[in-house]
Amino acid sequence: MKRKVQVGIIGAGPAGLLLAHLLHRQGISAAIVEGRTREAIEGTIRAGVLEQWTVDLLIALGLGERLKREAHFHDGITLRFNRASHHLDFPALTGGKRVTVYAQHEVIKDLVAALLEKDPEAIRFGVRGVKPRDFDGDHPAIETEEGRIECDFIAGCDGFHGPSRQAIPAQHLRCYETVYPFGWLGILAKAPPSHHELIYARHDRGFALLSTRSPEVQRLYIQCDPADDLAEWSDDRIWNELRQRLETDEDWRLTEGPIFQKNIVAMRSFVCETMRWGRLFLAGDAAHIVPPTGAKGLNLAAADVVVLARALESYYRTGGTGLLDSYADTCLKRIWRGERFSWYMTTLLHKNDAEEDFVQRIHMADLDYVASSEAAQRALAENYVGLPMEV
Ligand code: FAD
Ligand code: PHB
Repeated sequence: MKRKVQVGIIGAGPAGLLLAHLLHRQGISAAIVEGRTREAIEGTIRAGVLEQWTVDLLIALGLGERLKREAHFHDGITLRFNRASHHLDFPALTGGKRVTVYAQHEVIKDLVAALLEKDPEAIRFGVRGVKPRDFDGDHPAIETEEGRIECDFIAGCDGFHGPSRQAIPAQHLRCYETVYPFGWLGILAKAPPSHHELIYARHDRGFALLSTRSPEVQRLYIQCDPADDLAEWSDDRIWNELRQRLETDEDWRLTEGPIFQKNIVAMRSFVCETMRWGRLFLAGDAAHIVPPTGAKGLNLAAADVVVLARALESYYRTGGTGLLDSYADTCLKRIWRGERFSWYMTTLLHKNDAEEDFVQRIHMADLDYVASSEAAQRALAENYVGLPMEV
């Protein structure tokens, strides 16, 4: 394990890995310590949708070869409610932008392989007892059971449950949160795509989302109780719900097949505005969580580390700390917009029994408005494909 680097990174998720690549390109030495094994991080099923600028960045960094061959490029999404479909044509609404469906664990595999090829010691997997230390002074370090890594700066890219945010004194943390009374049950099914693009459905029985992974595999989600036991969700019950929630008067049929992966995730919106404490910088899910309905989490994580890498590059080139000092403010503008959009998509599309009937009627009126107004569609599309990076 490396004992001294300029930037010590905790966590080999999208944020930590992308930061390591950006720093490597700028000649800044970095090392990642990851708590899980390589197999575990490469096998965790999560995000699917990448914004165009994220894809452009991966390609510019030379990390997009497999993505270019294997990803699916989507020109829009369909909103489905009241048994009817409404297509949003992204290129027409956004001046030519589209989104890419490429699974997060495929991104992880690409980033890990390319990083280890550049520097076989760049990532240490399965490391226990990881803690950021002494970051309020000039000589921070990452403490681990295998020893200390001395560094100039620590990047806390260790997700929502990681040690970095928790290491900041609680009285200095400024956090905002809302927890939703529903979760998503996600499945992977061996069945050809039922549709060439994503379908987001609102139904009285709850939300459903049809996504895809490959010509043979579909990714589907249904709203559920986050406390549900997976054992209560038989394959038959899942298909039955999906069929009902996605039903339409159009000539369309859900293709079904064996389910080979199931999981339940809870949903929350969370922002820790204290993204920097001394020489510790939080990035990605360590600082903010969005419900997945807006497909923003990974993209926001990528945006944070672009800002952080730029600030570190400026520091090492000029000695100036201006961009490091403005890191949180710069990121938070985009983060709050991502939070707003993710909250909007979530409340718009989920059935929340705690809401008054009046509010539920408002959501239906909102959906009708989006379905019929080009201005409303433009606003949704602009956010879904991703706001420009300067924001
Ligand atoms: P993580 O991916 O959580 O990575 C953190 C890393 O830190 C992990 O590898 C973890 O093992 C490691 N770590 C934690 N604790 C320690 C420790 N003590 N020591 C060492 N290492 C540690 N986002 C999108 O943009 N588009 C989507 O379509 C989308 N869909 C989603 C669907 C679902 C069902 C879910 C759950 C999420 C989705 N997201 C989506 C969100 C996206 O997956 C996350 O925002 C993204 O993983 C954040 O990346 P990160 O690197 O910040 O954190
Ligand atoms: C996915 O394909 O996993 C996916 C797609 C869209 C979302 C969230 C997840 O909003």
